[in-house]
Amino acid sequence: MCGIVGYIGKRDAYPIVLNGLKRLEYRGYDSAGIALYDGELLNVCKTKGKVSDLEIKMQAASVIHGNIGIGHTRWATHGVPNDVNSHPHYSNSGNLVIIHNGIIENYEPLKKELINRGFNFKSDTDTEVLINLIEDVKNQEDVKLGKAVQIALNQTIGAYAIAVFDKNKPNEIVVARLGSPLAIGVGEDEFFIASDASPFLEFTKNAIYLEDGEMAVVRTHKDLKVRKIHDDSLVDPYVQKLQMNLEQIEKGGYDSFMLKEIYEQPQAIKDTFRGRMLVDQGLIKMAGVDDHIDKFLNAKRILVVACGTSWHAGLVAEYIFEELARIPVEVEYASEFRYRNPVINEDDVVIAISQSGETADTMAAIKLAKENGAFVFGVCNVVGSSISRETHAGAYTHAGPEIGVASTKAFTTQITVLTLIALQLAKKKGKISTSQFHNYLVELESIPSKVKDALESNDHIEQIASVYKNAKNCLYLGRGFNFPVALEGALKLKEISYIHAEGYPAAEMKHGPIALIDSDMPVVVIATKKGHYEKVVSNIQEIKSREGKIIGVVTQGDIDVRGLADHAIEVPDTLEFLTPLLTTIPLQLLSYHIAIALGRDVDQPRNLAKSVTVE
Ligand code: F6R
Repeated sequence: MCGIVGYIGKRDAYPIVLNGLKRLEYRGYDSAGIALYDGELLNVCKTKGKVSDLEIKMQAASVIHGNIGIGHTRWATHGVPNDVNSHPHYSNSGNLVIIHNGIIENYEPLKKELINRGFNFKSDTDTEVLINLIEDVKNQEDVKLGKAVQIALNQTIGAYAIAVFDKNKPNEIVVARLGSPLAIGVGEDEFFIASDASPFLEFTKNAIYLEDGEMAVVRTHKDLKVRKIHDDSLVDPYVQKLQMNLEQIEKGGYDSFMLKEIYEQPQAIKDTFRGRMLVDQGLIKMAGVDDHIDKFLNAKRILVVACGTSWHAGLVAEYIFEELARIPVEVEYASEFRYRNPVINEDDVVIAISQSGETADTMAAIKLAKENGAFVFGVCNVVGSSISRETHAGAYTHAGPEIGVASTKAFTTQITVLTLIALQLAKKKGKISTSQFHNYLVELESIPSKVKDALESNDHIEQIASVYKNAKNCLYLGRGFNFPVALEGALKLKEISYIHAEGYPAAEMKHGPIALIDSDMPVVVIATKKGHYEKVVSNIQEIKSREGKIIGVVTQGDIDVRGLADHAIEVPDTLEFLTPLLTTIPLQLLSYHIAIALGRDVDQPRNLAKSVTVE
């Protein structure tokens, strides 16, 4: 939800900021802009559209010089995406310039006050209000920029990661964060600023992640000072050594990040259980769980809070936890949970699932759960993210950076982590025998190679996609563990192809959606040879007799569904509770190929952003 980048030092800022924006474009891509000070002029160039549009505009205008610069890629909140509302924003004097990720909630009264004091505004944004507030404070109180930013921020309500500089003092950038991420790359007499570390990976591995409520003034030829915004106290910053490398954030020969990430799943799942699943010793070791095992074992219930795809992973977990560990589970949309006065008990364990670790609704749900005394456990992918820090304990998915806006490997690795937890609790609670536990681990260990087998259907799926690419609607059906997979399959199709799709528990079809079925309706049915197989076959018969087109996801060697379906996509056989890790794969590929056939931008679908830091 908006990406910010900045540079100050001896190099040319333009290529660093521009490439940084390209890497952060997954965070929002309605519009983009860069401000550079070239020693004489402060040049601000911004445009509606993508970073590539900005690049063309900047090259044409030749405004690409300077050793200090800030840039922004936007996902619009206040004001439509157009050139004027794009960041960076100037103050009225033209001296101060700002980029901002977040929302200033009380911008309207602040704006009124500033208008009364003679300020005028070009854009509809909350950000332009903030930069003028900073300018007003700076003039009124006659203070330096850092102090003015601090005083101004103490008057705001909302969320921000900001970078501000003054063209009359081009040796410093002031940064601050509350609720939106901000990393500072520490080089030799140079600093990088970004929403995540990807823009500066090739320049430095030393990074400081500001905590909420902290600000810093980064200056050339000076040490970095970090302080608390509300009381001015100094903070000793922790400099982290980054583990990420450039390959992880590049496409590596694939046409898109999404396809690369789909194909990374065998390795990502392996990375998720590496060091945690010791099959030979019949052990699972997960510090986050083991250190708090009493909380889990004494929990009367588990509450899962999440959004979107992560919520679907939570639904799969509900089936797995209840099946294996016999602990009641409730899965909540974080956005509903936070506002509906939920019953939360001290003996609840709340599991918050989030790829980005930044989702505002999930974060708010966590805070609410903590206020009510629950133990909160995070399942995040982004190391050091806000949610991973806000939770009492947690487990990372270790999927590596997920850059495609549609979640793929995050989903399967979330399910993997949650399966490990469920198995650990099932064993500790004596709900499964030692030999069952061992057999389950052996099967889980074979999943990455089975995912690889499932990926072999890619060409076949591409053909199926070409048949259905012009469909207006699509139904996805699944039962039991695969009901959430049906929801996830439908979400994937919607978000990257813009075709309307619905996921349903297969048996619910006859309670309404069956009315939609005719010869134009493709129905994707997950029909692995497990659990309720015969019942799913009956559902398929019902669709067939109404002339619906059936795409069956079946177990290798299945002949019954193959005989009924228009198309059958095979996945390897596995234990029923592990089937979601395999059935998900063809659904991801199907959405991908339909979207590509329609000429969609699969990595950056319209209106979406990877990290939803606003509610
Ligand atoms: C769908 C998708 C979104 C996210 C949702 C939660 O492909 O990516 O639905 O799953 O915005 O994001 P995280 O997991 O980062 O909290």
